[in-house]
Amino acid sequence: MTRKTTIWAAGAKTLLMAVAVFTAAVSGGGTDAEERYELREDPRLPKETKAQKDARMAWWAEARFGMFIHFGLYATLGRHEWVQKYERIRPEDYESRYKPRFNPDRFNARDWVAKAKAAGMRYMVLTTKHHEGFCMWDTKTTDFKISDTAFHRDLVREYVDACREAGIRVGFYYSIIDWHHPDFRIDTIHPLHDILGKQGAAEANRTRDMGKYRAYMQRQVTELLTDYGQIDIIFFDFTHPGYHEIGKNGREDYHSEELLALTRRLQPQIIVNDRLGLRDIVGGWDIKTPEQVIVPKCPTFNGEEVYWETCQTFSGSWGYHRDQDTWKSPRQLLFILIDSVSKKGNLLLNVGPTARGEFDYRAVARLKAMGEWMDANSRSIYGCTAAPEDLRAQTPDGTKMTYNPKTNTLYLHILEWPIKVLPITFADRVAYAQLLNDGSEVLIQQPRHVSGAIRKDMPASLMLPVRKPHTEIPVVEMFLKPN
Ligand code: GLC
Repeated sequence: MTRKTTIWAAGAKTLLMAVAVFTAAVSGGGTDAEERYELREDPRLPKETKAQKDARMAWWAEARFGMFIHFGLYATLGRHEWVQKYERIRPEDYESRYKPRFNPDRFNARDWVAKAKAAGMRYMVLTTKHHEGFCMWDTKTTDFKISDTAFHRDLVREYVDACREAGIRVGFYYSIIDWHHPDFRIDTIHPLHDILGKQGAAEANRTRDMGKYRAYMQRQVTELLTDYGQIDIIFFDFTHPGYHEIGKNGREDYHSEELLALTRRLQPQIIVNDRLGLRDIVGGWDIKTPEQVIVPKCPTFNGEEVYWETCQTFSGSWGYHRDQDTWKSPRQLLFILIDSVSKKGNLLLNVGPTARGEFDYRAVARLKAMGEWMDANSRSIYGCTAAPEDLRAQTPDGTKMTYNPKTNTLYLHILEWPIKVLPITFADRVAYAQLLNDGSEVLIQQPRHVSGAIRKDMPASLMLPVRKPHTEIPVVEMFLKPN
């Protein structure tokens, strides 16, 4: 039966699920804002009340801004972390040509962490292994690892230590896809699929034993979650329910439930993303991870708003890409951060260090600009969320609202700097307003004609300086009257 007939043969509810599944599968990041699934419990997973989950998520929801790092052997090629797939390179050629060349001699974990911290980021997530299968720690499971190169060091260890030292929460990314392991089944995204062809891949798969790969993966995850102290967040990448239907490895192939149970057993407090294909399992994921998109609103699941974090690149590629010229401006990047918080979400912004282990000059410039903005304006980000519904509905054109529920403060981010007045329809709710970057008062008054007469055609407005304040996106901080 074709995919299409499978879908049409199903009932309306299943159809809805299939559509959700398909959208998620195509994006690889589960971006559809509204999803519905029939839920199932798995006895292997710990039970948790909503209050317990909220407590576990509290540091993350407060932090709002984190750094993703994609660093691996692919940095050596400098043309995308999927280069092995795109250029159809056999795993053995990839290893023999590039592993001997890999030597990030300018790597300095403290420098990475200091740059993240200065940009205002409060947690980091590092690729411990990407799809290429190369391990960034001194694993006992394979020689295809960083400690077996000219570099000789355990990069994960140094990263973890530097994060802890700086008070930055520690995260790991781990690819469950592995293009190097001889037992990993060749699916349609595997480089060998294009090299061998469909028939050839099917034949090769006869001797590949996913059971052996699973055992390997479990040993690796056990090492990562046992030997490095407390790990605050883990980003598994990726499968989705339904992937097997379109010729890819699905959760049955990874035994995702077991992997998650292992993760939760080793690190009970850890935050886990949503890419193990366990959408319909209670406790199967903690956060949604829409990738490289702006969500229209806070994503929901079975009608309820969920924790979410968008992961974004500077230029499109996650790994170092020397020649890519599609870098977002600091302003666009700040917009993504503000927009995410205004919809109750986080931003995980990615850096792809160079083959010598440093941040690229373009990344450094953008992080610096974001840091300058955060230095002056981070009160509108940390601990903030969407504004209360009634205020949100009155968001002035060209602005974005965030809100700190603990202090009952509203933050208006002014994207288009107006000429002197910004009309607002909720002036009666505001006790006092000021520019956040310098703490100078912003009066709220009825605008006047040049004659001095009150303008009856406009509501009370923020009286702003003609010149835009010296900060990329100015913020007006409004202390609200108690409800
Ligand atoms: C995708 C890509 C991968 C990247 C990830 C980040 O799943 O396969 O290259 O690491 O997104 O979210």
